[in-house]
Amino acid sequence: MDAAGADGDPVSFVTLAIESSCDDTAVAILEGQRVIRASVLSSQVECHADFGGVVPEYASRMHLEAFLPLIHRALKDGGIVDPSKEIDLVAVTAGPGLMGSLLVGCMGAKGLAQAWKTPLLGVNHLEGHIFANVVNHPDLETPFLSLLVSGGHTEIVLVEDLGRYELLGETRDDAAGEAYDKVAQLLGLSYPGGPVIDQLARSGNPKAFEFPVPLGRSDSVEFSFSGLKTAVLWQVDRLRSQGVSLPLEDICASFQLAVVRSLMGKLELASKLTGVRSVTLSGGVAANSALREVLQTKKGWKTFVPDLFYCTDNAVMIAAAAYHGWHRGRRSGLELAPAPSWSIIDGV
Ligand code: KG4
Ligand code: ZN
Repeated sequence: MDAAGADGDPVSFVTLAIESSCDDTAVAILEGQRVIRASVLSSQVECHADFGGVVPEYASRMHLEAFLPLIHRALKDGGIVDPSKEIDLVAVTAGPGLMGSLLVGCMGAKGLAQAWKTPLLGVNHLEGHIFANVVNHPDLETPFLSLLVSGGHTEIVLVEDLGRYELLGETRDDAAGEAYDKVAQLLGLSYPGGPVIDQLARSGNPKAFEFPVPLGRSDSVEFSFSGLKTAVLWQVDRLRSQGVSLPLEDICASFQLAVVRSLMGKLELASKLTGVRSVTLSGGVAANSALREVLQTKKGWKTFVPDLFYCTDNAVMIAAAAYHGWHRGRRSGLELAPAPSWSIIDGV
């Protein structure tokens, strides 16, 4: 540990962070709050593609294989010669996520922290996604609304201050990314479904089919995507029973329009209820071209849409959340345990 020590000089404070909550193993080394000294990632997407979704047992085994080589590469890329002297904090995603996947990251992080005699900090993955925008947009100021849309989560969080969060609403059933993946599967498209549907939708007519906008008329900040998925399924069954070849582009464009309308409708409601007009987007679905465009051209709001790297899981966002958590007094010990259902409001 360098002179930054326990509370440290915030500028030269060096955090090594590990992310392994789902199907990406990632390691990053961050200096201060924004200087990325290393960022490496191993994706398992090809392994899970045959199954149409993440297979938890495979995921944890692959994290185990990727872990040490990624640590070595990150230290090399970051120019770290003696981690026990140059790393001030080892941070790791402790939840939410898949138990086996989180376990690999947490146990590995504990081993490193013990070997290097470095403090350890467990980070909430969703707080990490919020920090993706903090790292990516230095001009972002609190308060802001964070729309977090991934394969596992769809929620709107009011970030009153960094570290002070209010969950305004979340999905009742499927996450938006999960709906993309399931609709892709029923259309016979590859996994993950989001990028493929996004691509096909570009040449389709979004008004070809009228799919319901989930909870469009409700005045609560809540999402639901399972009914929309079923509506697509019925439409596909109808077309197939008529012997019509599926107009994939039109189905994708119409489905995507319903998803984007749902997300934007609830964001507008959240903005109205809180009076906050500064909005960030994060999570894998933040890569969606239609959603990005609608948000970027939204009048009257200050919108922050992250670069594609910051949309999906990465360890830079975990390092940034850890850096802030540490400097506002958060601490973990070697008793740190994975928390697969850790909600952002359960204390971060
Ligand atoms: O955040 P992420 O990388 O992993 C977690 O779920 O934590 O998000 C993955 C999800 C998948 O469901 C994928 O289909 C979706 O993000 N996704 C997209 C796009 N790119 C990825 N959804 C819509 N449009 C995209 N361009
Ligand atoms: Zn994620």
